Amino acid sequence: MISIKNEHELVSMREACKITAAARALAGEMVKPGVSTKAIDKAVHDFIVSQGAKPSFLHYSGYPASACISVNATVIHGIPSGYILKEGDIVSVDVGAFYKGFHGDCAATFPCGEISDEAAKLIQVTRQSFFEGLRLATQGNRVSDISHAIQTYVESNGFSVVRSFVGHGVGRQLHEEPEVPNYGKPGHGPRLLKGMTIAIEPMVNVGVYDVYVLKDGWTTVTADGKLSAHYENTVLITDGEPEILTVTEGL
Ligand code: CO
Repeated sequence: MISIKNEHELVSMREACKITAAARALAGEMVKPGVSTKAIDKAVHDFIVSQGAKPSFLHYSGYPASACISVNATVIHGIPSGYILKEGDIVSVDVGAFYKGFHGDCAATFPCGEISDEAAKLIQVTRQSFFEGLRLATQGNRVSDISHAIQTYVESNGFSVVRSFVGHGVGRQLHEEPEVPNYGKPGHGPRLLKGMTIAIEPMVNVGVYDVYVLKDGWTTVTADGKLSAHYENTVLITDGEPEILTVTEGL
């Protein structure tokens, strides 16, 4: 069952997403050489709590932090640690906040100081692939229309999309139906309806699309050790333009 949010529920959902987006922005501003990923996680945690919300990821299936911070060849679910960011790193920050009964979920990859041209292109293509998918996120289209648009754009730029992790419905639960893959043929999957809220989240690799999970059970890295980036927003389906609920100025 794919939940449809009514206007009343959407008021709360928008507030949850606004807090989530602000947490992402705050994390992005902290991405600088010399800062530990743990320090960014603490700032995200303290900010979300200061807003009267709860970090959605903390203790989710045993996850030990409030943010996922994934550096360079780490694709997603990097656990914040004492690692000190250095010039040239690319840093994916994924955050979620639970407020008034609803979750927001968003992510972005930030450059740490000066980065390589290839890394900069990866970040840009990953972000743009989200917007390519977003154009198809309207009532009446199928979920895989979004997936296909993302894959086509990414591969036309010479990169690959991760297959084994996907976007998802989001609302009262962090992960709801439907699954929103970042690859596939168009015209498949559930039909999109006004009031659905989905997290569209392309994960894009410079090299092969294969990834594996480290022994900690979370940290997901590229199989070939090459760079990866991530971009995610929580999106409301309408009968017109989709609405990005985790909207941030300039992100
Ligand atoms: Co998500």
